[in-house]
Amino acid sequence: MKTVKVGIIGGGLMGREVASAFARWCALKDMPVTPVLTAVADVSPAVLEWFRALPSVTLLTTDYHEMLASPEVDVVYVAVPHHLHESIYLDVLKAGKDLFAEKPFGIDLPAARRIVDAGKTSGRFVRCSSEFPFFPAAQRIIKACCGEGMGRILEIHSGFHHSSDLDATKPANWKRLSAICGEGGVLNDLGMHALHVPLRLGWKPRSVYAQLQKGYPQRPDGKGGMSSCDTWDNAMLHTWVSIGGSDVPMRLEMKRLAPGETNSWFLTVLGTEGGMRYSTTEPKTLYTFRRAGKDQAWERTVLGFDMPFATITGGIFEPGFPDIMQQMWAAYLLEREGQLNGRFGCVTPEEALASHEVFAAALASQAGNSVNEVRW
Ligand SMILES: NC(=O)c1ccc[n+]([C@@H]2O[C@H](COP(=O)([O-])OP(=O)(O)OC[C@H]3O[C@@H](n4cnc5c(N)ncnc54)[C@H](O)[C@@H]3O)[C@@H](O)[C@H]2O)c1
Repeated sequence: MKTVKVGIIGGGLMGREVASAFARWCALKDMPVTPVLTAVADVSPAVLEWFRALPSVTLLTTDYHEMLASPEVDVVYVAVPHHLHESIYLDVLKAGKDLFAEKPFGIDLPAARRIVDAGKTSGRFVRCSSEFPFFPAAQRIIKACCGEGMGRILEIHSGFHHSSDLDATKPANWKRLSAICGEGGVLNDLGMHALHVPLRLGWKPRSVYAQLQKGYPQRPDGKGGMSSCDTWDNAMLHTWVSIGGSDVPMRLEMKRLAPGETNSWFLTVLGTEGGMRYSTTEPKTLYTFRRAGKDQAWERTVLGFDMPFATITGGIFEPGFPDIMQQMWAAYLLEREGQLNGRFGCVTPEEALASHEVFAAALASQAGNSVNEVRW
């Protein structure tokens, strides 16, 4: 069993999630590689405290450069606010480490371009995080879209909804400030979730008409005052893609103000002969449309724990967010070893860049109330 020494920069929400995925790596069967978390860097000493309980961690530091100088780190996972992506990703590559980057892979399109270039020059293995396609039902949709069973694809609806911004008393954080989250706001925050599968299937939006909405202009700052919030909170992108020579409308939705939703990733693909619909609000349930002559039917299939990377978990059990995080890391580490063997892989730097091309066109569309071409 090969081990890979991993360091985390940014030990917040996602940094801890990744540490927990590693801590139960024994859930994966037949894995030739095991990640070992050796080092964590975060500017907050309080954040670092949580990692002290993990026995494999030998370096906790408030200066990530110290981690990058350590030979005890092969791969660095970076989960920091978006305005820091470019500088930290470039430092990781310069230090000769492989990079698992968080989305959106730079605060904007020019930053994403520079990161992609630096990745190429460095020759290091670079991928970007997006875990929802590792749900078993999402994998079924991807497989179906690669076959002929849907007939002519008529429409695609892909998105990610949550509702935490409905609560006006929720304190502001960096994700509500354009200077830190990026001008794209919710596009930067949730857009990769909506685009990973379409881009992997080759469905590149040719044009986009965007409807962007802002949330509350002020929120409590957590210190008794109020803080300005200026990011786009909701985005509906109406795009055209070309599939099999036909123009197909693809609607991408990213919302932080979606009544009733918590962390809902969804994908619907409808064709003349068949279709599929999945939302993580019903994590085990896949809806499949079939047409036979004049008969049309929606079937409901209850899936179990049929993960792309085999686990010891009982086949009838329910998958959840921690499981798909672990699956995504299995994909990253196996692809790095050249052992993905046709299974679904993490977002490539080129796909991350493509998502920024769509976001940039969407921002221009919103500004001009226009339909904008996406540059490819
Ligand atoms: N894949 C997903 O599902 C998912 C979900 C949430 C967030 N994210 C992404 O993960 C990244 C981080 O988001 P989060 O929700 O974990 O944020 P967070 O605010 O919870 O954590 C960020 C951490 O980075 C630390 N930090 C800030 N500056 C630093 C520096 N210079 N050096 C080291 N550490 C520093 C902060 O102290 C904080 O602990 C973002 O890119 C975000 O878009 C991905």
